[in-house]
Amino acid sequence: MKRILTGIKPTGKVHLGNYFGMIREIVKLQENHQVFLMIADLHAQTVPYKPKELRFLTYELASSLLSLGINPKKTILFRQSDVPAHLYLYWILGSLSYLGELYRMHEFKEQSERYKKIGVGAGILMYPVLQAADILIYNADLVPVGRDQVQHLELARELARRFNQRFGKIFKIPEIHLNPETEKIMSLDNPLKKMSKSSPEGCLEIFASEKEIKEKIKKAITDSGDEIKYDPINKPGISNLMVIYKYLTNKSLAEIEKEFYGLGYADFKEKIISAFFEYFSEARKRKKKMTKIYIERLLTQGKRKANKVAEENLKKILKVTGLK
Ligand code: TRP
Repeated sequence: MKRILTGIKPTGKVHLGNYFGMIREIVKLQENHQVFLMIADLHAQTVPYKPKELRFLTYELASSLLSLGINPKKTILFRQSDVPAHLYLYWILGSLSYLGELYRMHEFKEQSERYKKIGVGAGILMYPVLQAADILIYNADLVPVGRDQVQHLELARELARRFNQRFGKIFKIPEIHLNPETEKIMSLDNPLKKMSKSSPEGCLEIFASEKEIKEKIKKAITDSGDEIKYDPINKPGISNLMVIYKYLTNKSLAEIEKEFYGLGYADFKEKIISAFFEYFSEARKRKKKMTKIYIERLLTQGKRKANKVAEENLKKILKVTGLK
């Protein structure tokens, strides 16, 4: 069975974009892969944050993932900071990384622009090195990520090759696995931007209150005209709602156009609202039943399993690098 590793940062509550862009794919992959699913709490620390919030969002993410179908019998769910071997390898890979290649990362450029007034932490620069360590310490075959992470993964592959050249063949070169769903979910209040927590009005959190979800869908930006037609250039708002409806119902865009032919935007939104609650009703029920004790127990289990694999690899790494 091929091994997968991927990580999600606990920096906000799970929204529709996270789910269809990534989580649903992991839920499918766990059926025939050995999945290591990591809550990337150390990566969440690379920008200013509140400790209480990080702790809360770590549990929140774990309980959301479990409610949405991550099966702890199949997937090893764990906290990044619970496996010290990541940090050991991170340091070793840091010395193999060139400043030039780190400065070149899009995410570094974006984040350092955003934080230039208050100061850009070195963690932002080293971010992809830790990410490479996350992957390589498990010798993962496959890494599912969003398109925005491809550059980081290419660096991880490069660091694996460089390490192997210098110290002998220890690492597999991990494959990048992109979600086959190609349509991105855009923000409900600005369909030209990706749905994200940085724009809360347009962000549909899966476990938000019924009232909030209804309101946000009702308020979603539509376009001039009154046709329900897929045309992302001229009708980005309606096209985005169609993509959401497509994911929720499994209907094709053509079928959706037919279904709503002659009907108005308001009717369409009502249908999206019911499709949303139908799709997520089980998950929302499960989420209400999650307890902190249960989550804690699973994370402890995950910690044990992840450490076992990571430590075994670390031993080999220490040996070939001359540390042991
Ligand atoms: N940087 C990733 C993101 O923002 C999260 C992440 C951390 C990750 N470590 C990883 C993803 C290792 C894949 C593999 O989405």
